[in-house]
Amino acid sequence: MSIQAPPTLLDVVLQILLRNEALTFSFLEYLPKELFPPLFKKAFTSKQTNILRAVVQAWPFPCLPLGSLMKTPDLEILQAVLDGVDMLIAQKEKPRRCKLQVLELLNKHRNFWNIWVGTTKGNCYPRVISKTPTVEDRAVPGGKKQPLKVLVDFCLKCPDLDEYQKYFFQWAEQRKSLLQLCCQKLQIWEKPVCSVLRLLKSLEPGYIQELEVSTLWRLRSLPLTLFTPDTEYMRNRSRTNEGVELIECMYTALEERIVTTVISQLPKFSSLQHLCLKEVHFFKVSLDQVLRSLRSSLETLAITHCHLSQSDLNCLSKYPSIYQLKHLNLSGSKIFHLCARPLKVLLERVSATLQTLELDDCRMEDSQIKALLPALSQCSQLTKVNFYGNYISTSVLKNLLQHTASLSQLSLELYPAPFECYDVMGGFLVERFTQLGPELMDTLWAVRKPKIVCFASNVCLKCYERCVYIQDVCLCSCWQ
Ligand SMILES: *[C@@H]1O[C@H](CO)[C@@H](O)[C@H](O)[C@H]1NC(C)=O
Ligand SMILES: *[C@@H]1O[C@H](CO)[C@@H](O)[C@H](O)[C@H]1NC(C)=O
Repeated sequence: MSIQAPPTLLDVVLQILLRNEALTFSFLEYLPKELFPPLFKKAFTSKQTNILRAVVQAWPFPCLPLGSLMKTPDLEILQAVLDGVDMLIAQKEKPRRCKLQVLELLNKHRNFWNIWVGTTKGNCYPRVISKTPTVEDRAVPGGKKQPLKVLVDFCLKCPDLDEYQKYFFQWAEQRKSLLQLCCQKLQIWEKPVCSVLRLLKSLEPGYIQELEVSTLWRLRSLPLTLFTPDTEYMRNRSRTNEGVELIECMYTALEERIVTTVISQLPKFSSLQHLCLKEVHFFKVSLDQVLRSLRSSLETLAITHCHLSQSDLNCLSKYPSIYQLKHLNLSGSKIFHLCARPLKVLLERVSATLQTLELDDCRMEDSQIKALLPALSQCSQLTKVNFYGNYISTSVLKNLLQHTASLSQLSLELYPAPFECYDVMGGFLVERFTQLGPELMDTLWAVRKPKIVCFASNVCLKCYERCVYIQDVCLCSCWQ
């Protein structure tokens, strides 16, 4: 039988504080700084909104990372904290004790509070605690109070907002002039309602680090302030969009104009590292224009489910901005009708950096795969390759496997079942596959000791699964 440890002094103090709200309010001024995080956390857990409201107004640290504490959005708690912020804003002078400058609603740093209040060991997220406000931080010219910075991530999945988001948006919109609202990650999946658009206009673009727009609606209805320097605080062009590291665009052929808009803005994103283009049909704008306008060196280039022409493919070997790629994804962009030479040249260029290569469903054939092999064998940093969905014969597939002899970092390798496993109508020949699987695996083991290797059929059109050979054959649902 285990004996329960006696409560620590801290526990006792917190209990007293939580039980006597009036006492807590009168003591907040004198409470040691170290007690604030555990008190806030306890009040949060027990939903003591009065205490939360008061603690916010006396918060002795520059940052309050509320988002890290809130695993699921809780409207009541948000309301209490924002009420506290309101009271703080309403005061002419910031209370002596209060150092609050940044309210973080980002849901990252999951374990942060446990570490902060000492229930878990680990490195504390240093910015929150160590940042001592400088004189400039506290005062702006004219003696005005520095606006409170509010950091958020937005993921707008439906046109309307959920209750929590709605409350926050309304709150933020009414206090626009008193806050500095910074959005680090903005994902827009659906056309947002007008009120959201209005609010997005007030976001400070320099702080948008990731922008993901995957919508079928017109980009033109997105506030252009996100892209162009046409608001007051964005006069400095070179700073605009400086922080954006990821752009993800997904468009249909009909929305050519939108693609043109985004691409025309690309030169402004000076620290872009990841560019993902999905279902973009290069007609008026070419891939060449896209790559030519890059101002930074990319880590990720994904051109997936796109219609590529030979001239699009050709430019892959022309621009040094993609010579340091770590991740190349051309999945779903069919290139069976094109000459693969430019892709080979690109592989040569990126051989020292490339870690993942995804060519799923590119429908490449023997001659194209053969063209890539010498270059592929030099990509010694590769950890993942995906060749599913290409039309390769057994002999060329074996050749491909042999060319991976020096790729010792590979931990995941996905190869297609060779085309001998299909009949003339495209039907999958399971017996043939069962026989070839071990043979292919042996070919690989003869050159290297692989980690995870799969050979797989195309996706079955009935059950959307694949027949896979790993150590044994695992059939799709239709065959079982
Ligand atoms: C614009 O921003 C850049 C980069 O931060 C800076 O070097 C430059 O001095 C700024 N220019 C003006 C006019 O503020
Ligand atoms: C590559 O692109 C495909 C198709 O868009 C996607 O399903 C896959 O997750 C991408 N791979 C990576 C590593 O992002």
